[in-house]
Amino acid sequence: MQQKFKNLNGISVAFDELKLRKEHLKKIIIEHPRYKRIYNLISECHLLSVGSVEPGTLFLYGGTGVGKSTLLKEYTQNFPRFVLDGVTNVPVLFVSVPVGATPKSVASEFLLSLGDPNYEKGSQTSLDSRVFQFIERCGVQLVIIDEFQHLIDRDTKHVLNRASDWVKVLTEKAKVPIILCGMPESEKIFLHNEQLGRRFSVREELTSFNYDTREDKKDFRTFLYILDKQLPFSKQSNLADPKLAEKLYYVTNGVPSYIKTILELSTVHALKNGQDYIDEGNLYEAFISMKVSKRPNMVNPFCDKKFNLYQAVENEGRK
Ligand SMILES: Nc1ncnc2c1ncn2[C@@H]1O[C@H](COP(=O)(O)OP(=O)(O)OP(=O)(O)O)[C@@H](O)[C@H]1O
Ligand SMILES: [Mg+2]
Repeated sequence: MQQKFKNLNGISVAFDELKLRKEHLKKIIIEHPRYKRIYNLISECHLLSVGSVEPGTLFLYGGTGVGKSTLLKEYTQNFPRFVLDGVTNVPVLFVSVPVGATPKSVASEFLLSLGDPNYEKGSQTSLDSRVFQFIERCGVQLVIIDEFQHLIDRDTKHVLNRASDWVKVLTEKAKVPIILCGMPESEKIFLHNEQLGRRFSVREELTSFNYDTREDKKDFRTFLYILDKQLPFSKQSNLADPKLAEKLYYVTNGVPSYIKTILELSTVHALKNGQDYIDEGNLYEAFISMKVSKRPNMVNPFCDKKFNLYQAVENEGRK
């Protein structure tokens, strides 16, 4: 149900209210069409594999900030853990590959996620046998492995062979469907470890929003419209207005994480001013505090009545 927020009528919010409203915004998740499509694919991979002789696999990839982890964590939360006959059941196990992965650090991460208090203790053999034992005993139906690109060394860019072999063995032995997720460069791991690559031949991308066709524009504006309705204000901010949507697209490139960042900054600004919605002045100020490292020539489009997306993109030297 949508939460109601009181009118501020020009009176700046108190600290507690500011915190509450900001937290509300952070938690908003919009199930846009591409999100729903991937969610359904994961659900199919999960539910069709229960009791199957050959459980499914899926590799989900996408650039930073498109919402991969958000979606996977939401999926995991929709299958909460429960205690049955004194055993904690973990229907969906979510694990992140640690930076500079080794077989030991990956196995420990699995045990930590499974709730083993001694997750770092023991030899490799002992850690591994506990991982497989617990997967079975905790009734794990689906394993999700995020940050797959951490199987590539950050400095040397070499694939970490021992850790990627560990993941390969897991996919062979665990007898449950597995979702791997990471940045597009993770494909390199499959080229290097062909056996793992063969296991994950179904590959799906979660993309950011586009703004080329009428359909693209409609999708992006619908996303903004739904987001707007859930913002922690008593009135709407008209984010989906064609001109404003164009400016928001220019600044964020349609990447949900940038959209969330600029809206968080402008929300705080507006709330401190006692406003009941975000205006372009707030977005203008938010833009100044926001740094997008790869775009040093980006201009502030807000409060610019003559802003033109195509001209601005050309001036910036992008296509
Ligand atoms: N569908 C969505 N609705 C609302 N907010 C979203 C959505 N998808 C992503 N976000 C926001 O974008 C931010 C980044 O999302 P997330 O961390 O899931 O990206 P990611 O694809 O996992 O990136 P990385 O590869 O860097 O880990 C989060 O703050 C999240 O709240
Ligand atoms: Mg992530």
